[in-house]
Amino acid sequence: MSASRIVAASDAAITEAARLLRAGKLVAFPTETVYGLGADAGNDEAIAALYRAKGRPAHNPLIVHVATLAEAEALAEFDDAARLLARTFWPGSLTLVLRKRAGARIAAAVTAGLDTVALRIPDHPVALALLRATGRPLAAPSANPSGRVSPTRAEHVAAGLADRVLDGGPSRVGIESTVVALDGGARLLRPGGIAAADIERALGRALATGADAARPQSPGQLASHYAPRARVRMNAISVSAKEGVLNFGANALRGAKTAISLSERGDLGEAAANLYAALRTLDDAGVETIAVVPIPEEGLGAAINDRLRRASARPS
Ligand code: TXA
Ligand code: MG
Repeated sequence: MSASRIVAASDAAITEAARLLRAGKLVAFPTETVYGLGADAGNDEAIAALYRAKGRPAHNPLIVHVATLAEAEALAEFDDAARLLARTFWPGSLTLVLRKRAGARIAAAVTAGLDTVALRIPDHPVALALLRATGRPLAAPSANPSGRVSPTRAEHVAAGLADRVLDGGPSRVGIESTVVALDGGARLLRPGGIAAADIERALGRALATGADAARPQSPGQLASHYAPRARVRMNAISVSAKEGVLNFGANALRGAKTAISLSERGDLGEAAANLYAALRTLDDAGVETIAVVPIPEEGLGAAINDRLRRASARPS
């Protein structure tokens, strides 16, 4: 595949990208969480090309993006809880896993053969304009090779991954959507850009987590994921001169080769927005190890720590 073409997301560029998507091509586009690698969710060949481009295991299903709740309801069965969460958080960084409607026009590979489908309406003007211009639901995993750090800027999308990259500036949230399954009970499958406590408050009850649910975790929650080249060491209380360090708030360690603060004022939202770019910067600085100071587990801290734990897990 030729190198990705990064273009500013003008109206003309969005129209052209929609034409490419309808022709079965892959287009990377900005969302408020991370950049997605989009493909027509109803096109078997396009979805096969998407899995190939990412090197994604076939058992890991994709999130389908739509522009309206009506389009989502055409693809999946919404009960009162699903409708409540959709109305409260969409457009936004919440993905709902729901029972797929019989006859929904979605390639079988999108759901990896499951009878559920993951859906969300992204909160980004370019993503919404692209969905409207394409007129079809778009499957869009994060636009990174499987297992690596997700892109939060157009230039982070690896060359050759997409036929076209729409540049809509840095992603505001910076960490992937929260994934909640409502196919019987309510389970948190992946912490993300909307804090679990906010979802529980809207729902009026607690979310089960993978650990205490009877069913298996989200298939995509692989142990090693979101990994930079460097080793990641969490809860660091000291650093060496060979390491890079990610600091947070007043927890600032000195003496590292390169230091980046995720948020000097100790704001977890700001830290989430900066996380992936900071991991890339430390990789580019050539450090062998990235030490990360303790990050509080509350609010978006749960998603940040989830990604760091997976980044620190080595495949073998
Ligand atoms: O913020 C996001 O969600 C971004 C942007 C581009 O929208 N997308 C994203 O996609 O993070 P991806 O493919 O990197 O992560 C999708 C997650 C995986 O953990 C996958 O296993 C889970 O959603 N998932 C998808 N369909 C599912 C299903 N039917 N049942 C359970 N988990 C599902
Ligand atoms: Mg991903």
